[in-house]
Amino acid sequence: MSMLNFLAVTTGATGVNPWVALAYLVAGVCFILALRGLSSPATSRAGNRYGMIGMTIAVVTTLITHDIASLPEIGIAIAIGGTIGFVIARKIAMTAMPQLVAAFHSLVGLAAVLVAGAAYANPGAFGILISHIDPTGLETLVISPVSRIEMALGAAIGAITFSGSVIAFLKLNGNMSGAPIMLPMRHVINLGTLVAIIVLTALFAMTDPAPEWMFVAILVLAFVIGFLLIIPIGGADMPVVVSMLNSYSGWAAAAMGFTLHNTAMIITGALVGASGAILSYIMCRAMNRSFISVIAGGFGAEDTGGGDGAVKIDRPWKRGSAEDAAFMMSQAEQVIIIPGYGMAVAQAQHVLREMGDLLKEKGVSVKYAIHPVAGRMPGHMNVLLAEANVPYDEVFELEDINGEFAQTDVAFVIGANDVVNPAAKTDKSSPIFGMPVFDVGKAKQVFFIKRSMGGVGYAGVDNEVFYMDQTMMLLSDAKKMVEEINKSLVD
Ligand code: TAP
Repeated sequence: MSMLNFLAVTTGATGVNPWVALAYLVAGVCFILALRGLSSPATSRAGNRYGMIGMTIAVVTTLITHDIASLPEIGIAIAIGGTIGFVIARKIAMTAMPQLVAAFHSLVGLAAVLVAGAAYANPGAFGILISHIDPTGLETLVISPVSRIEMALGAAIGAITFSGSVIAFLKLNGNMSGAPIMLPMRHVINLGTLVAIIVLTALFAMTDPAPEWMFVAILVLAFVIGFLLIIPIGGADMPVVVSMLNSYSGWAAAAMGFTLHNTAMIITGALVGASGAILSYIMCRAMNRSFISVIAGGFGAEDTGGGDGAVKIDRPWKRGSAEDAAFMMSQAEQVIIIPGYGMAVAQAQHVLREMGDLLKEKGVSVKYAIHPVAGRMPGHMNVLLAEANVPYDEVFELEDINGEFAQTDVAFVIGANDVVNPAAKTDKSSPIFGMPVFDVGKAKQVFFIKRSMGGVGYAGVDNEVFYMDQTMMLLSDAKKMVEEINKSLVD
């Protein structure tokens, strides 16, 4: 059997059509190139284009080659969904991206549940019926055992993704406390629920005809476990949850692909699932968390009250001005800029790049240090700095630059707190304990731009560095403060 025939057979969609298989293969290659492109800011635009081309090929191929109930209805649905997506994407603030992503993941999960439900309710339409002869010799049509496993897994993964993403959305959007909610014996409950889902899936595949109560029970348990897995996660650990749910939504889509016999969906889902899992792993390493305990929910952490309980240190601190900062930086040999969430809020990336340019004109070496969870979404700072045309070779990751602070004249922290908070190393009770952070306190001079001494970062923890001898607080909106610094640098 040729490769194309093999692929066409595996699509199993509308008979053996090698062109469909070829188109899906091309779409799959585009998705792989998209992921490759998205791995670096320099190639990310090309990566996005590959993704769009691949998705267009996959959607058009499915629409023109498959047996579709009603093309006008699908067209209307695409137009409504597309318009909503377009409007949201244009309106959404960059800083609200994580909750938007969580909301979209919940829709993928719900879609998987609905597809599995539809396949269970109308298996004939999905071509998953096989003949079955019962002990009395009576022949009936039943859902094939393999399809039942696919259906149960699709429904379960979809339901976990749905309820988990809804909780993540509520937490990230501030509708629910960001603090971890630790149930007693939660690991035993989680494990018990997972085992029950697996056992029910096996029984569902073996029992003829597949009982409705089992399908419903699998769904209910999966909804519950999605909820249970996410509520114990809070504070600074939310980024890992977002990427983990990203992975789950991919596996949910792959499971849908099996039910719908759509190769493109299986490929896409598997790519999203695998890349989300890799991203979760990278985030876990960045946060110094164990990957297994993330999947199990709650990191085995104790309730430290992160996210809500701001602990203030009552000590003297020094206030600086834009002129102080401009003068000291223009005298420096090296300045390391550490951007955080506040830079995104203030949209200060463009004026920041101008500041970097002015300093370079004065012979100062300027570097940007990016923490993997700075801001509110993976790569948030990289995207903003790229938008402001900061040269990529001036941007460094945590492990590549952290050793340089001791030989640096000025650490310029703009709207960051958690990612430069030494409590992550020293305070075992802190919600960020264990997360690697920038050692800004080792620099000869530290400037902190934030709006007030009262504001704390995402994890709600005060920062020891604010009160160090070499620190000056520049209290203002980040964009306004950098504009003033730039004025002083020009004068
Ligand atoms: P944060 O710790 O959240 O600190 C932000 C700082 O910016 C605060 O000190 C705040 O103080 C200041 N700020 C806010 N608006 C400002 C403005 N307009 N001008 C100047 N300053 C402003 O940020 P971070 O250091 O980037 O850490 C990120 C945190 O978010 C981590 O805990 C991370 O785990 C979490 N998180 C990350 C992600 C991803 S994937 N990156 C997703 C969800 C959560 P004032 O209020 O006093 O101004």
